[in-house]
Amino acid sequence: MKIVVTAGPTREHLDPVRFLSNPSTGKMGFAVAAEFARRGHKVTLVAGPVALPTPRGADRIDVVSARDMMRETARAAKGADVLVATAAVADWRPAACAKRKMKKSTMKPVLRLVRNPDVVKSVRGVRIKVGFAAETGDPVREAVRKCREKGLALVVANDVTAPGAGFGTDTNRVVLVRPDGGAERLPLMSKRMVARRIADAALRLAALDGGGGIS
Ligand code: PMT
Repeated sequence: MKIVVTAGPTREHLDPVRFLSNPSTGKMGFAVAAEFARRGHKVTLVAGPVALPTPRGADRIDVVSARDMMRETARAAKGADVLVATAAVADWRPAACAKRKMKKSTMKPVLRLVRNPDVVKSVRGVRIKVGFAAETGDPVREAVRKCREKGLALVVANDVTAPGAGFGTDTNRVVLVRPDGGAERLPLMSKRMVARRIADAALRLAALDGGGGIS
């Protein structure tokens, strides 16, 4: 099957040396890409700025901003079976990006922001969309809302303040949430094992949708 994975943070520059971003390292998304590639699927990994090696067998496209990620994901997702959106995409970007480094002495201490596109919600042409939900507190309720709002078949919800979960860790504690509110809580496990469970669930959904067998 043809699989697209988004991973890592995006950077939203206000000048060449300053940006808005978040602590995503790409570990979760790269583990998902590696797992699908290990099973022999054709994987495109659209990655924000991270310091990780490309998983064996995956094609990697590096991007910086949410708008770059939008463009490359839309291109890669045409005719894809599954999109897994693990990326921590910045919801906002500075309204303007200066071409040259802004001087402290003349910079205004107020930043005007505009909304970024929602990558997973906007992308068309893919059969099954799996999203993530980064929450602080019990993530299930928000995950159900995100499922419905973004047209997702499954949301992988994580409380990013829980010990061993979320940004930068080698482990994660997630709940697999369906649009009907059904939820499967997984124990704390390595991101590699979480990736396996996500691949199992996504491929099952793709098979139910009529796209071939599960592998
Ligand atoms: O990279 P690591 O250090 O391993 O950390 C993993 C992680 C914490 C980044 C990952 O487990 C995670 O939670 N990823 C989702 C982060 C996030 O942005 O969540 P959200 O609730 O804001 O977004 C919901 C969904 O919409 C996500 O699938 C996100 O990729 C997508 N989204 C959000 C905003 C936007 N503009 N475009 C999007 O596609």
